[in-house]
Amino acid sequence: MKHRIAQEVMELAESETLRIAAAAKELKKQGKSVYDFSVGELDIPVPMWIRERIREALEKGLTRYTPAAGLPELREEIANYYNMLFGTTIDAGNVLLGNGGKSVIANFIRTIIEPNDEVLVIKPYWVSYPAMVKATLGKPKFVEPQTFFMPTLEEIDKTITDKTKLVILNYPSNPTGIIPPKEYLKKLCKHIIEKSIYLLSDEIYIELFYDERPFSASTLDSEYVVVANGFSKMFSMTGLRLGYLIAAKEIIKNTAKIASHTDGCPNSLSQYGVLGFTKHLKELDETREKLKNRLNICKKYLKNSNLKLDYDPSGAFYVFPKLTDKRDAETFCIELLQKEHIATVPGSAFGDPFRIRISYACSEEELTAGLEKLVEFASK
Ligand SMILES: Cc1ncc(COP(=O)(O)O)c(C=O)c1O
Repeated sequence: MKHRIAQEVMELAESETLRIAAAAKELKKQGKSVYDFSVGELDIPVPMWIRERIREALEKGLTRYTPAAGLPELREEIANYYNMLFGTTIDAGNVLLGNGGKSVIANFIRTIIEPNDEVLVIKPYWVSYPAMVKATLGKPKFVEPQTFFMPTLEEIDKTITDKTKLVILNYPSNPTGIIPPKEYLKKLCKHIIEKSIYLLSDEIYIELFYDERPFSASTLDSEYVVVANGFSKMFSMTGLRLGYLIAAKEIIKNTAKIASHTDGCPNSLSQYGVLGFTKHLKELDETREKLKNRLNICKKYLKNSNLKLDYDPSGAFYVFPKLTDKRDAETFCIELLQKEHIATVPGSAFGDPFRIRISYACSEEELTAGLEKLVEFASK
């Protein structure tokens, strides 16, 4: 039977990163040893205090629906966390919890984007932004920065039309790991919101920095700024699904309406698990230290290789080197997986066919051994 699938869904591709990760898992199942640099999740376990709280919550039967926007005390703690780190003056009413960053971003886009509204997405982009925009019948418009992933104001202006409703920025960036200078980002964000265009600042990697704490768009104190964040990356909680949005109260109220119909509420156990997280922020120093070492390993191996790291990544857990190879990134990544059992993601998934994404969220041993083989393969 030919099912009548909606056109915009027919046109969507499955997430490339998840597809490669699944292929790598399949090879592992066949008993092959695979170097998996494809996934966006840390090898570090969920912190013990979160696991204990989840266990306790389960024992106490805290497994029922919570309010659709999340537990009031956790919304308040997140507001305090931003107020403490970035000097904002928000409260619980500016925070919406949801089942992961993906869920809150998709629900927010659904809240403001109408058919044919345009959304600016900067290349290289996180795979899900264009798909989320298309799923709402909006139109993604791409900006291709000429200088190392940082668009100029002119490049932004050239792409803006009177249909532009939203610009999405993501720093620290997936897939590049860059954190642009604070002054540059502040200027860029201000430039966008001064045009009465919404700015979605995806700050999911904001705690994973290896030099200076990154700029947060929340500091701009504007009704046009919407921040997305979550616990997947900072506390290795990818499967536990907990993310949040910080925005003007009217945006939160309307996005919560959609969430109440699609999700019901955020995962109750995950919410109880992270309550009190602001008392544990110091522990992130250890995560940062580990990731900084791994980034240095990547830099060391790629330095004199055919995979050129021609910029300075300083956050998240990705590098995005350029292929100085005759093969295109897709062919390169497929051959690399089939011949060497090393999983990486071709840049085409992020809108740049000349680079590949290497995630260094794995152990130092796996990273070192895999990079050695990878560099060797690239030299052939
Ligand atoms: C840039 C970016 N934003 C948002 C997310 C969503 O993360 P989650 O839905 O696990 O919170 C991810 C996950 O990989 C990401 O890389």
